Amino acid sequence: MLNKIEPSLPDPIMSLMEAYTQDPHADKVNLGIGLYYDHQGNIPVMQAVKIAEQRLVEQQRPHTYPPIEGAPLYANQVQTLLLGQPMARVATVQSVGGSGALKLAADFLYHALSRREIWVSDPTWSNHWAIFEGAGLQVKTYPYFDDNTGLVSFDAMMGALSCLPTGAVVLLHPCCHNPTGSDLTPSQWRSVIDLMHQRRLLPFFDIAYQGFGEGLEEDSFALRETLKTDLDFLVSHSFSKNLALYGERLGSLSICCASPSVASNVKGMLKTLIRRSYSCPPIHGSQIVETVFADPALYQNWVGELAAMRQRIRQMRISLSAALELQGASLDYARIRNQKGMFSYTGLNESQIGQLRHQHAIYLVAPGRMCLPGLNAHNIDYVTAAIVDVTRTTSKR
Ligand code: LMR
Repeated sequence: MLNKIEPSLPDPIMSLMEAYTQDPHADKVNLGIGLYYDHQGNIPVMQAVKIAEQRLVEQQRPHTYPPIEGAPLYANQVQTLLLGQPMARVATVQSVGGSGALKLAADFLYHALSRREIWVSDPTWSNHWAIFEGAGLQVKTYPYFDDNTGLVSFDAMMGALSCLPTGAVVLLHPCCHNPTGSDLTPSQWRSVIDLMHQRRLLPFFDIAYQGFGEGLEEDSFALRETLKTDLDFLVSHSFSKNLALYGERLGSLSICCASPSVASNVKGMLKTLIRRSYSCPPIHGSQIVETVFADPALYQNWVGELAAMRQRIRQMRISLSAALELQGASLDYARIRNQKGMFSYTGLNESQIGQLRHQHAIYLVAPGRMCLPGLNAHNIDYVTAAIVDVTRTTSKR
């Protein structure tokens, strides 16, 4: 029976990470998967996390089952981070990373709201397609990015959103757009939210990089603005990046409802979906968050370290863009400097990405997504020279 199973296509991001790990090249550089590396090329354990873990070891709490939706304290802390304060009209559950939140939301949309379609930006994170299609939704796109200008195609985006049917589910990246690094301005967000309000669309915000754009508060601007309307909306979120807790698989799904009683029913539905999928969430990661967020000094420590990470990425943007300009690379280096978050949509084409990988052991996600934190003072000259080389030998897209 099993012989008929065909080979699967490898995941474009995870398989790149595997190939990078196995590459014996001494100067290899990982600019692929969305991972933060420090200036020495190491994935940091944040100070606040280290201290919280020490406290947890000392407390030796039992490894009991948590509630299906995760601990109430965790939900309150997540709501405060995302929305400014805990709110009874928001149903929040812990999820297995940001991806788990997206899958849970997709199941909710399909089973509880009978939705069969979702609109995502063109382009978007490749796993959005995989998760939503895997959950039975048809994925459609709205225009988002113009690779010729390196800017958001805002008018085209608004035009497309204004034609969607009432109740259409629209996935939006509140900050650090993945893969382009090109975000909407606050005034553009206001226009999008007004339009969604007029057309009674259903916003679904996926925020995986809060704190890597302008700051924790600033990056949640779209959520806070939508909260001022009477729109229902969904928020999937992740602590993988901003607490560097990638492997703990820690995130959340929040659904903002018209009233606390609606939120209670929505939470009940989410609990049903969780229980029949993986029963209840793991506890270690959420206990770290509870410990860090409940202690004002630890929280400030985290905020400061995250700000330093954001600054380092910005510095790498400035340095790479300046180095490319100096070396006369035929690439739009201004966009590398101006884009936000971990990623830049460099404008490098598939063939150039292939050459970077096979001739220089530099890994980027096709077509042209660079993860900036993989750069540091030790490898930036090597990467610059390689980009100059591949943009000289192949034509610009
Ligand atoms: C990425 O876009 O590289 C990250 O979100 C990691 C992943 O799971 O793809």
